[in-house]
Amino acid sequence: MNFKVRVFTFLLCVAFICVLLRVLCRFSIHTNPCACEKCSSEDDPWSMQLFNKSAEPFLSSKADLSEDAFSWWKHLQDERRNFSVYSKTVNNLFEMFPPSPDLTGPSPGYCRKCAVVGNSGNLKKSYYGPLIDLYDVIIRMNGGVTKGYERDVGTRTTHRVMYPESAVDLDNTTHLVLVPFKIQDLEWLMKAMTTGFFGESYMPVKSNIKANKDLVMVINPAFMKYVHDSWLENKGRYPSTGFMALVLALHICDKVYVFGYGADKDGNWNHYWENLEDQNLKTGVHPGTHEYDIIKKLAEKQKLTFYTGW
Ligand SMILES: *[C@@H]1O[C@H](CO)[C@@H](O)[C@H](O)[C@H]1NC(C)=O
Ligand SMILES: *[C@@H]1O[C@H](CO)[C@@H](O)[C@H](O)[C@H]1NC(C)=O
Ligand SMILES: *[C@@H]1O[C@H](CO)[C@@H](O)[C@H](O)[C@H]1NC(C)=O
Repeated sequence: MNFKVRVFTFLLCVAFICVLLRVLCRFSIHTNPCACEKCSSEDDPWSMQLFNKSAEPFLSSKADLSEDAFSWWKHLQDERRNFSVYSKTVNNLFEMFPPSPDLTGPSPGYCRKCAVVGNSGNLKKSYYGPLIDLYDVIIRMNGGVTKGYERDVGTRTTHRVMYPESAVDLDNTTHLVLVPFKIQDLEWLMKAMTTGFFGESYMPVKSNIKANKDLVMVINPAFMKYVHDSWLENKGRYPSTGFMALVLALHICDKVYVFGYGADKDGNWNHYWENLEDQNLKTGVHPGTHEYDIIKKLAEKQKLTFYTGW
């Protein structure tokens, strides 16, 4: 063989090996569900029992609710109306709001880091604020204020999880994430953002709410049932807003950092903006300590990072 042919063959082999390596590398990147060193959706036997990756966190115009899930959901707050009223209301909802959410599951090219910030009194004097503000997604819930508490809880909020009775006004850049417990809650969302809502609930409800219509998301009732069945093994009547927000984060984020959950250092379940009067506040219908035990176990299994506060 002459020299030129040999060089040519050699180069061809090199090129072939390079292409082969690239394909293999790409393949291995694609088998990693996200671009973090470790993704929260990676499997281990215990959390695989809890996790159902195909559970849809958000309601969308295509999401079908099974009759079974509807009958579980309708008992949460004594919904009297039937499934066809529910379906019709959902259809109306998506004439007004984006038909599908812009936040989805893990993406291979990116490591989405989320802070989930609960309202526990253990955030007092925690100095977590600057740390919390670093994350891409910052999920807060209900009336968890930031103004006046920046040092301990941070300033930014990208998503606020709430229901009509706990609703607060939002700024233009925050996603309103509604947890609906009854058909009226879906109606509330439509009316409170337009003509005003004047219905009644078990406690006073804001008749108007300020929020960016394009950023509204609604939790899927089927997802609520999934959290209750699969994560809480049906304990308690239904999951707390805080626990739902946490499971939501595990579904939509690659890495999850948890703040402000559980009791404070004296064992009280108060909010960080309150001064406690009743020394032994209980957690009501929510299976509070069971939820807390699951969070601790998720932390042990490195599914999330748990900042237990002060
Ligand atoms: C996971 O969720 C999907 C969609 O809701 C459902 O069809 C499936 O049965 C669930 N799997 C398990 C193991 O629960
Ligand atoms: C559901 O409720 C509506 C309004 O009360 C009623 O008109 C309709 O017949 C009901 N549908 C079914 C299937 O029961
Ligand atoms: C809020 O954001 C929208 C676009 O998302 C913009 O059109 C509107 O002017 C903003 N409003 C305020 C008060 O900043």
